Amino acid sequence: MEKEIRDEFKKRFNSDGIMYASSGRINLIGEHTDYNGGFVFPGAVDKCIMLAIEPNGTEIVNAYALDLKEEASFGLEEKDIPSQQWAHYIFGVCREIIKRGGVVKGFNAVFAGNVPLGAGMSSSAALESTFAFALNDLFNNNTIEKFELARIGQSTEHNYCGVKCGIMDQFASVFGKKGNLMRLDCRSGEFEYFPFNPKGYKLVLLDSKVKHELVDSPYNRRRESCERVAATIGVETLRDASFEDLEKVKDKISEEDYKRARYVIGEKQRVLDVCEALKNGDYETVGARMYETHEGLSKDYEVSCVELDYLNDIAREMGVTGSRIMGGGFGGCTINLVKDEKYDAFIASAKEKFAKKFGHEPRVIDVVISDGARKLS
Ligand code: GLA
Repeated sequence: MEKEIRDEFKKRFNSDGIMYASSGRINLIGEHTDYNGGFVFPGAVDKCIMLAIEPNGTEIVNAYALDLKEEASFGLEEKDIPSQQWAHYIFGVCREIIKRGGVVKGFNAVFAGNVPLGAGMSSSAALESTFAFALNDLFNNNTIEKFELARIGQSTEHNYCGVKCGIMDQFASVFGKKGNLMRLDCRSGEFEYFPFNPKGYKLVLLDSKVKHELVDSPYNRRRESCERVAATIGVETLRDASFEDLEKVKDKISEEDYKRARYVIGEKQRVLDVCEALKNGDYETVGARMYETHEGLSKDYEVSCVELDYLNDIAREMGVTGSRIMGGGFGGCTINLVKDEKYDAFIASAKEKFAKKFGHEPRVIDVVISDGARKLS
């Protein structure tokens, strides 16, 4: 991939360009907690977006998406928003840096990626982080702090892509560190690296290859539910609410909002339990909490689908230690913590049963925890 990008850049712009990359992510536990001020537990993976880029001395951006074989050229003012959807991510990052008082001038860019699209591994956050990191280096002497780079990606989603996401994906993509997961407190922004090397276990993703995201943005509606309940309880976010608080307002909120909040409040504690269990090498507890999260995401938060529930069922049947939906949901993948000796049988069974029921095999993605945003040359 790196060579193809370099060759394409040379061909188009007759120059070498400077290379950057940033990663997709996994999340061990802590789903839909980030925009509720709760905890998440992600890590960057060895699948990334790579970019060759160079200032061009104009006020125009020329970007080429190698995987799509499409180009976009646009100016840097708000009115210059490009028509291509993929270019919104780049335009948004430029605009968010400028809005914060940073500098962005015209540049040429060629990028490509191997983060599976639609799998819930945050290819869009990887794209945003790569550009944010590069533009900080090229035009701002790296004066923009790393956490702000993540916020720039998040604001890009909010203001240019229509997704009111939390900070987890961009945070993981920017801060990822080889061999480490990170527990982030999304209320304070404090985080801690956790070396993750579960001896005797493998972490594997099974991508259902389906995407059921509907036009009415169910993700944003989940967020609105949580905000309504928090407002009714009288706290800023559900991070500050307990099960008792929720019971007290039960009559004032809809059954649906009640279930959404019940999931979020439970998930908060599960992340802390998992961190504690990891410190003690207690993978059985880690796995048990993962199954509970799946249950909550499926029944209370209702972001699962038949394909993901089926993958979860197979994992249970095959004695997999932990399994759950990963990411926003509505399709994408499950994350599975599997004992080494059960791995082959689980994968074989999942492929066979899933294909029989849905007509295609899930994609198997082995997880390698890797570095986040970085300069390559
Ligand atoms: C998506 C969002 C994240 C987070 C997850 C669910 O990946 O981008 O901010 O809310 O869903 O945990």
